[in-house]
Amino acid sequence: MHQPVLLKEVLEFLAPHAGGVYMDGSLGAGGYAQAILEAANPDGILLGFDIDEGSIHKVKKRLEPYGERFKCWHAGYHEALSTLGSTGIGQLNGIVLDLGLSSDQLENPDRGFSFRFAGPLDMRFNRSIEGSAEDLLKNVSEAELKTIISEYGEEPRAKKVAQWLKQAVRLGTLKTTEDLAETVFRALGRKKGRIHPATRVFQALRIAVNDELGNLQKGLEQLPSLLKQQGRLCIVSYHSLEDRMVKLAFKELAKDNSRWRILARHPLRPSSEERFFNPRSRSAKMRVIEFL
Ligand SMILES: C[S@@+](CC[C@H](N)C(=O)[O-])C[C@H]1O[C@@H](n2cnc3c(N)ncnc32)[C@H](O)[C@@H]1O
Repeated sequence: MHQPVLLKEVLEFLAPHAGGVYMDGSLGAGGYAQAILEAANPDGILLGFDIDEGSIHKVKKRLEPYGERFKCWHAGYHEALSTLGSTGIGQLNGIVLDLGLSSDQLENPDRGFSFRFAGPLDMRFNRSIEGSAEDLLKNVSEAELKTIISEYGEEPRAKKVAQWLKQAVRLGTLKTTEDLAETVFRALGRKKGRIHPATRVFQALRIAVNDELGNLQKGLEQLPSLLKQQGRLCIVSYHSLEDRMVKLAFKELAKDNSRWRILARHPLRPSSEERFFNPRSRSAKMRVIEFL
């Protein structure tokens, strides 16, 4: 089961209370959602979103005991404005986004997110839309692929990787996660003690397949308008590009005597204890803004 990251900090800043209405824009396994519902006992409401239908299905089951206090949609947080608009639900006391993917998704071979498991080259969060990683690898040019790997994967040898991958596509030998890991390995080799060279390429492709930065941009533009006074938006990110986007968007909101206040000047990081017990949390950064 996915272990929630920075949960204590999320609860501290969101400060859920009875009677409040909260949104978890990326439910995952429902760890934050359940903790928010507990903290907002007996009548606080949690509205949940996820673009992964499997996640929605599991969280619905997990949170069944909360009855009407939990409502959820198989939709993106970047679509929350239109989704909630049509329900008549008013303004929110708090919103949290926990970006990226859950351990449940990462460890499911069928989803193709990890080179540690043999599976199809899928990597879609939302399996009801077209465009798997295999499709992406076929459809982008070598130059586009190089940019994806270099920007989203921060891989310094992106050009070489892109050349090898496009060659493998042409030869018809790039169908599975194992093929992908093997091709990257052959392109780059492995330096002792370093992370597997495929790690960065898998991350880059996942970000591109799901348009994660495009969705974050839409979310940053739309979500603040859903907050009521004293409402807070907490965003936990795992990639430097995402953190930069959040930082700039919050800075823009809070500039010139605006009605917004950035609550933590420096992003919050997991404690050394959390990093030790949950290594997945290592790259996490949380930023928070409040509508005054
Ligand atoms: C890191 S997990 C969240 C874990 C969650 N905080 C918990 O405690 O279990 C991220 C989730 O966000 C979902 N996701 C990714 N992009 C999304 C988007 N644009 N809108 C909604 N959900 C999204 C993924 O499918 C995944 O389930």
